Amino acid sequence: MNALVAGMPHKQQDIAQSVQALLGQMTLVEKIGQMSQVEASHGYAPEYLGDRLRAGLIGSVINVVEVDVLNELQRIAVDESRLGIPLLIGRDVIHGFKTVLPIPLGQAATWNPTLVEEGARVAALEAAKSGVNWTFAPMIDISRDARWGRIAESYGECVLLTSELGAATIRGFQGDDLAANGSIAACAKHFAGYGAVESGRDYATTNIADTKLRNVYFRPFNAAVDAGVSTLMTSFSDLNGIPATGNRYILTDVLRGEWGFEGFVVSDWDSIRQLQIHGLTENDRESAYAASTAGVDMEMAGDAYSNHLPGLVEEGRVSEESIDDSVASILRIKFELGLFDNPYTDPESLPEFANERALQVAKEAALQSVVLLKNDHGALPLAADELSSIAVIGPLADARYEQLGTWIFDGDEELSVTPLQAMRTLLGDSVELRYVRAMENSRSRVNDQFDAAVNAAHESDAVLLFLGEESILSGEAHSRADIGLPGDQVELVRRVRAIGKPVIAVILAGRPLTLSDIVDEVDAILYAWHPGTMGGPAITDLVFGKASPSGKLPATFPRVVGQIPIYYSQKNGGKPPSKDTVVHIDDIDTFAPQTSLGMSAFHLDTCFTPLFPFGHGLSYTWFGYENIRVSANEISIGEEVVVSVELGNHGDIEASEVVQLYTRDLVGSLTRPVKELKGFQRVRLAPRETRTISFKLHTDELAFFGRDGKRTVEPGMFHAWIGGSSDAEQRTEFRITEHR
Ligand code: GLC
Repeated sequence: MNALVAGMPHKQQDIAQSVQALLGQMTLVEKIGQMSQVEASHGYAPEYLGDRLRAGLIGSVINVVEVDVLNELQRIAVDESRLGIPLLIGRDVIHGFKTVLPIPLGQAATWNPTLVEEGARVAALEAAKSGVNWTFAPMIDISRDARWGRIAESYGECVLLTSELGAATIRGFQGDDLAANGSIAACAKHFAGYGAVESGRDYATTNIADTKLRNVYFRPFNAAVDAGVSTLMTSFSDLNGIPATGNRYILTDVLRGEWGFEGFVVSDWDSIRQLQIHGLTENDRESAYAASTAGVDMEMAGDAYSNHLPGLVEEGRVSEESIDDSVASILRIKFELGLFDNPYTDPESLPEFANERALQVAKEAALQSVVLLKNDHGALPLAADELSSIAVIGPLADARYEQLGTWIFDGDEELSVTPLQAMRTLLGDSVELRYVRAMENSRSRVNDQFDAAVNAAHESDAVLLFLGEESILSGEAHSRADIGLPGDQVELVRRVRAIGKPVIAVILAGRPLTLSDIVDEVDAILYAWHPGTMGGPAITDLVFGKASPSGKLPATFPRVVGQIPIYYSQKNGGKPPSKDTVVHIDDIDTFAPQTSLGMSAFHLDTCFTPLFPFGHGLSYTWFGYENIRVSANEISIGEEVVVSVELGNHGDIEASEVVQLYTRDLVGSLTRPVKELKGFQRVRLAPRETRTISFKLHTDELAFFGRDGKRTVEPGMFHAWIGGSSDAEQRTEFRITEHR
């Protein structure tokens, strides 16, 4: 037994030996064929890809989801090529397949890893039924800029929340056995730092200090590798002058050298050839050289590898050994998927699309994703038995496609149940629903239907205003410089508000929006993101009190776009603003000497705090936090402390609360954030119930990457908070000592 397999579990030994045996039979051209993923969505793929498959020039196809076509492609690859190597079938199964779950940012608002895992499992089963065996998800880019359209695909701004939900998604897709029917390989993307694009413009450049890469942007990917993710995808973006797709430091030194990643790395769409556009290389040949030597194993939808790697190997610039390493990592995933035993899909062997379980998970995810941002004087829930009529206003009240959100190539809008449909079903004739679309779409500046909306409000007991942005306004390449409500929506709110009836805003969007213009114009706000197939029933259950909102914000909501980047785990700085640092630019005297204002880190024309903080979310009951305490005031490195609080449900309904634990390392060899999420628990309490909620905190969870790039725990004083948002007030403290 060679050193490669010594000590490996039996199955892995078999795979390792099978990989080496197959590799030993392959020609250089066949090896490079495995490193090519080909776009296969135009026309009948077996016809125009057949010859390349027979020649062993294709390792994977992307964007085919007809199971018969895929089985035929597999048959050609397996039966008609020299070595019969089956194909990886890739597809963006981001938040569902036919049955669509809330966008990932919405799923993040559930703070429920178990539910997110269930959602990924539903998606995997439906995708596998179509012949897909590899998805390009989870997207785990830390996102702290709501202008960036791809924040919609992310799990938000927090390292811990993103790491936990990314790992849960991987478990859901890959299951316990990658070879099991219905399991598909996952792909953590986009490595690395993509969420830090300048000005939130997609594909723009990023400049991230190594300490910030290690303490923020790398961490969810390290968690994904620890969770056993099969593949990673490179980012389009330039990272500190070296685009991720050509960046050996992240793809080899860190990913493989430090983390021991054994899967394979795929480029993003044609991102290898884009290295020339970045200005890193002169031509495709040099781009192939740069990407291959950096550690990119497979090229997505480009031909730099197939055109130039053979020559680069013959020139000796790329070693055949490095080609073998790439091909071995690809073959290993194919063996782990069981494709050599059975490359074909029998759709009858998998559950029906949109089955009861799928729809139930989609509804529960939508229910738990909705965040109650405000609820003045208990405007919500609406008591249907006390209302005779409700005005339902806005284009997003009945938009089956739009509520699915971005990245739903295979989502079936015919399955969608809209809020208007769900309300009609729930209320029947008991309450008259006066629906006025009022706007053609969210961007419209035509307000000739506003009178009709105002009249409907006039004649009704309450108003449900469906506001926000359609799915096209977020997602890849869809960044916005102004993240307010598009079109003339603010004017619509003002016109309706003037009637004086209770106004409930239900907002569907793919990002945090700046809501300062309407926040005081409405009585309550339910933020539903893009809630997916079952968004309608979920929103309806919440509006009419069949369930209480329990979502918590996974991203900070700025007051104005100029506050961005704004996130909870910021550094303190040397002149932090205090709560009373509020200056109104209009109040500034005509002559104000330089030293007369603020002198701390704030903007003259807005408050320095966000409109709604990370972790914020209200309920129909009221949760109180009291008596926070620690099990020890002092612990040494390697020990753990228990932080506890009394949580009380002070209302008359049963409801869930996401209890959050934050810490602050007061002094470090690097300055440390003013708060870091270190734990969260979703807890359900009966009316009037009080329960002790405890978090075990090991010193290892307080480690960070220091000046030397090494992970370390430093002794010193720590603060700890427990509460229902990052604005938690219950605080305690403890000290870590070297040893006791
Ligand atoms: C896109 C995206 C990536 C996606 C890939 C395949 O450009 O950046 O996230 O998985 O191409 O569609």
